[in-house]
Amino acid sequence: MNIAVAQSGGPTCAINASLVGVFREALKTPEIDAVFGSINGIEGIINDELMDLKLVIKTNEDMELLRQTPSTVLGSCRYKLPPVEEGGKTYEKILNCFEKHRIEAFFYIGGNDSMDTVAKLSDYLAGVNSKIRVIGIPKTIDNDLPVTDHTPGFGSAAKYVAATVQEIIRDSSVYSIESVTIVEIMGRHAGWLTASTCVLRANDEIAPHLIYLPESEFSAEKFLEDVRIQQAKYKAVIVAVSEGVKLAGEKSKPVMVDNFGHEYLSGIGKTLEQLVKDNIGCKVRSIELNVMQRCSSHICSKTDIDEAEQIGSEGVKAALRGVTGQMMCYKRISDIPYVITIDGIDAHKTANKEKFFPKEWINQQQNDVSPEAVKYFLPLIQGDVKIRMKNGMPVHFKLK
Ligand code: F6P
Repeated sequence: MNIAVAQSGGPTCAINASLVGVFREALKTPEIDAVFGSINGIEGIINDELMDLKLVIKTNEDMELLRQTPSTVLGSCRYKLPPVEEGGKTYEKILNCFEKHRIEAFFYIGGNDSMDTVAKLSDYLAGVNSKIRVIGIPKTIDNDLPVTDHTPGFGSAAKYVAATVQEIIRDSSVYSIESVTIVEIMGRHAGWLTASTCVLRANDEIAPHLIYLPESEFSAEKFLEDVRIQQAKYKAVIVAVSEGVKLAGEKSKPVMVDNFGHEYLSGIGKTLEQLVKDNIGCKVRSIELNVMQRCSSHICSKTDIDEAEQIGSEGVKAALRGVTGQMMCYKRISDIPYVITIDGIDAHKTANKEKFFPKEWINQQQNDVSPEAVKYFLPLIQGDVKIRMKNGMPVHFKLK
């Protein structure tokens, strides 16, 4: 049999490790012959744009480089499949591509939108009595997939964000004047990544002094009051704010959306910066971490990269057992020692659904998170990956 693998949604620095997991497991499996990579997610299957991965990932060293390369080596997409009952032509193209290349299992590495593809495609294939298996391999820096304890890519993004905020703390405390520094962090409607800056407390940092999540109540007045309270104690106030935080009235602004109807979020940091300028008048900067937080592989979590590879490999084993329509997920057995297991769940349970940061881990003032959160996050950022360097720079795997 042949298999195919594709990557979809926003990049992470662990998504290529999951691709390596699928690929390495396939190499070990005598039943599997070719491993095709689909270019730009499911679009590559629809348009029959595949590449034989054995021709491009040739050595162990290639696999090691791919593991340390951020973003999606096969490209990505935000393509929403039509409902199974309406999408005849699209699904026929997919089936034709699978049959033409004798593909008997398809692995889709992606987030909650990509699990919509896994759910629909496996439903369609079951409906036409096809034995082709479809398996979802999770990924997202947002950590917002239901059921799984966490998502591949999140731990590395959290480590980068926390380390960067720590550097910002050092920089912002050099002057004797009062200042406010606002760091805007990705995560869409879920505050996991912003909340993860609390891991700095395990290293005796007090900042970020204020942490705002989309799950917390938020208003301009309360924000300014919070800042003033912190300024009474600290000269340099550091604020971590999630891109999904909204000010009253903002919803009416025209927004750009992707194919799944998600707004392109960014700008809350600048808005808060203006608020501080206009109402407090001290030195203020806003910093949008933007795509750096999902593609900074020079400080990634070894735990995350190793688990990302492992979950890809478990996906292949599941498909060989005949499993289809499932997303692989992590189950946490214990925090200390940190132990997880990997299992599969029905992809319908995660498709288009979001898992939010627990309300009980947000403080009463709605501007910080609790020590339980630190306990949850810490294991996910452990370990460092030894990065191969050339001329003083990390080496990335590139498709020729
Ligand atoms: O879902 C991952 C993510 O990086 C979100 O954190 C962010 O809001 C979104 O993708 C950005 O989307 P795009 O890659 O289309 O700019």
